[in-house]
Amino acid sequence: MRTNTDRYQFIADELNRRRQQHLLRRLRPVTPLSDVLVQVAGRTMLNFSSNDYLGLSKHPALQERARLFMEKYGAGATASRLICGTFDCVEQVEQKLAELKGTEAALIFNSGFQANLTILPALADKRSLILSDELNHNSLINGARLCRCRVRPYGHNRLDHLKSLLAENCDKDFSRILIITESVFSMDGDCSDIAALSALAEEYGALLIVDDAHATGVCGPRGLGLTQDQGVSLTMGTFSKACGSFGAYITASAAMREYLVNCCPGFIYSTALPPAIIGTIDAALDLIPQLSAERSRLQANADYLRKALQALGYDTGGSTTQIIPVLTYDEQATLALSAWLEENGIMAVAIRPPTVPLGQARIRLSLSASHTREQIENLIELFAAWRKNHGL
Ligand SMILES: Cc1ncc(COP(=O)(O)O)c(C=O)c1O
Repeated sequence: MRTNTDRYQFIADELNRRRQQHLLRRLRPVTPLSDVLVQVAGRTMLNFSSNDYLGLSKHPALQERARLFMEKYGAGATASRLICGTFDCVEQVEQKLAELKGTEAALIFNSGFQANLTILPALADKRSLILSDELNHNSLINGARLCRCRVRPYGHNRLDHLKSLLAENCDKDFSRILIITESVFSMDGDCSDIAALSALAEEYGALLIVDDAHATGVCGPRGLGLTQDQGVSLTMGTFSKACGSFGAYITASAAMREYLVNCCPGFIYSTALPPAIIGTIDAALDLIPQLSAERSRLQANADYLRKALQALGYDTGGSTTQIIPVLTYDEQATLALSAWLEENGIMAVAIRPPTVPLGQARIRLSLSASHTREQIENLIELFAAWRKNHGL
């Protein structure tokens, strides 16, 4: 017989388990000081963990447009889009995005996590098959789970594995097959081959869904991501990373947009984003195509740091982008390195399971166009000193 005294025991048990395995997470208040400086517990630290790759979160144009939109439309959207939350500014921003991306249509969602969680179950039914890159983001994994259909992971970026799964399953009685992948992998900083994935999807009549969160603003022509003109069925991207704001979008055909407006509960039953956020997105979309100098600086910063870390003997995996994992494998060692970097004024967060597979703990470094060479040199010197003393 259950008693009232033990009904919360699972909480303590789970937290203890995580503590013992060095997997416990903590929230820490941070005050941003600039694009790359933050204050933590009264100390100024250099931030190498943010996704604000182009420094847009502090850009005056975004702040000004937020103010303008709030003054004109108010603080909140007042309802979901289908009730009365589709302000004209929202449709104008979607139009702007669709034009920039060269797609028929765009649709804004409230966050990237929410979008993945609700779009996948809208597209798949219980009789569908999902083929999912094994390193996909948690939101894609959980979105796929909610479909309650068969999900088969394929080896990370392994087109041969994906092709064999497609060949094995294409004639079976599935309602449809969905391939889901990220374009730039959030914890690894490597890229999927969208053209090859698209060709496979076409060959086997599958849908291709691409999460372009970390490419949006940074990669592809004019920073508009990696899926342009690639024939993908649906691109999902976020405004929360290089766009410096919040929220998410899909770009797809007009029919797909209409389908989601009608069949996607996370769109239908959630209040629309506040006008101030729509304002920041509007301003970010105006800026991004013009930021090629910042994108080149970002890429140069990343190339420089990656080469230096590799020269020191660190494993940076398959990273080619602004996200650089420094693989430390062991959770305790990763925490120790992160804490030591912090003592030396660097915010470089330890990433541990379940965010990454067991034995794959790492420091995830993310660069900004605003990092100076001197700041990067400072980081490299610290990694050199750590390696000398710990031989990691
Ligand atoms: C690949 C990927 N998809 C989706 C998300 C979720 O986006 P958001 O932070 O806008 O909810 C993230 C954010 O961490 C991500 O890295």
